[in-house]
Amino acid sequence: MHPFHYRAGQLYVDDCLVSEIVERYGTPCYVYSELYLRERYHAFAHALGEQTLTCYAVKANSNLHLLRRLAQWGAGFDIVSAGELARVLRAGGDPKKIVFSGVGKSRDEIHAALDAGIFCLNVESAAELERIAEVATKMGLRAPVALRVNPDVDPGTHKYIATGLKESKFGIPIAAAEALYRRAAEWPSIAFIGVAAHIGSQLIDLQPLGAAARRLRDLYERLRDSGITLRHIDCGGGVGIRYHEENAPSPADYAAVLDTALAGLQVRRVVELGRSLVGNAGALLTTVEYWKKNEGKHFCVVDAAMNDLLRPSLYGAWHEFLPLRQSDAPLRDCDIVGPVCESGDFLAKNRPLPAIAAGESLAILGAGAYGFAMSSQYNSRPRAAEILVQGAEIRCIRRRETLADLLGPEEDCLVD
Ligand code: LLP
Repeated sequence: MHPFHYRAGQLYVDDCLVSEIVERYGTPCYVYSELYLRERYHAFAHALGEQTLTCYAVKANSNLHLLRRLAQWGAGFDIVSAGELARVLRAGGDPKKIVFSGVGKSRDEIHAALDAGIFCLNVESAAELERIAEVATKMGLRAPVALRVNPDVDPGTHKYIATGLKESKFGIPIAAAEALYRRAAEWPSIAFIGVAAHIGSQLIDLQPLGAAARRLRDLYERLRDSGITLRHIDCGGGVGIRYHEENAPSPADYAAVLDTALAGLQVRRVVELGRSLVGNAGALLTTVEYWKKNEGKHFCVVDAAMNDLLRPSLYGAWHEFLPLRQSDAPLRDCDIVGPVCESGDFLAKNRPLPAIAAGESLAILGAGAYGFAMSSQYNSRPRAAEILVQGAEIRCIRRRETLADLLGPEEDCLVD
């Protein structure tokens, strides 16, 4: 069940009244359902089975308290920076279940990852492989590595989040990968353990993921036949969710696509799922500040903005808005906008919304993934609080930033 639902006309998240969260913590604020996150993680881990290391893509939502729970439930982690590594280690994540993706790993990041003893570095270029070899040699180690290949498959998603096309910056062209595996196979500081790809995000049709897995399999088999035996195939993330009317794939649909592509292959699988685990676990709560009308157009001005939730501005993403009290006020078409000084600061365009009064609050659904994680202090707006609901309990898992948080890093360097 979706964690946000009405009971007797009032919006609940699991067994908590959303209005109580607003009273206690104010808005804008993010709220997450622990129950939903747990169910989603277990549903995917179960469908994918023991042969799969189900990693959580930390970039989707990196709150320590969510990471700690995922670690306890047995998840692995997909990280893209030393900052994410620090978060996972602090949250008690098992280094042996960490994969490190990303096109631009610095020497320090490679050092930190090898020092922590992570499971695998996903390498995105020959230059990066050489750098990893150099750092590992200095440390007297063999670095566990997979090449992230670019399978040139169109994921059929927004162009900003499509990563597996040949013109994208990600990965090594699949045609060139084989030669690189061969060139580096004997390097003493590199242990090739896998092959990886990630073709894009928010995929509703999973066929492209199947096609990419098939190409990874072909490469795996060609390498095996020529004496390079890898231990795992990492199929990346990208499983889409329902924001609006999408017919989102289930964990079983996803598992079936991978099973078909990799049938009969005795090889470990890795996946890196972000949005599909946490996206619908969360909402952003916001309060109506004003209604205004310009040239016949209605604007609902709320206290959340593009700095809190960037997805509508950046991708034209659609998020559902639910009033905290079900309303039979007439619907009116409006733009829902924040206080940031940019015309690009909107949360919804031409949206029918009940004409609820200023001071009433709304929940913006589907905000658990790439919501808080992409937030900023733009316009000097302190970042929102984050709240975790555990059944009927409400826990703050990140306090609202204060003006001191905003000014501190500059005040630390005050010069006259
Ligand atoms: N693995 C790699 C290497 C990735 O680059 C990503 C996402 C994932 C896994 C997780 O993908 P997911 O399962 O969450 O689709 N900010 C955008 C999404 C950017 C995704 C970037 N990479 C949005 O708000 O839609």
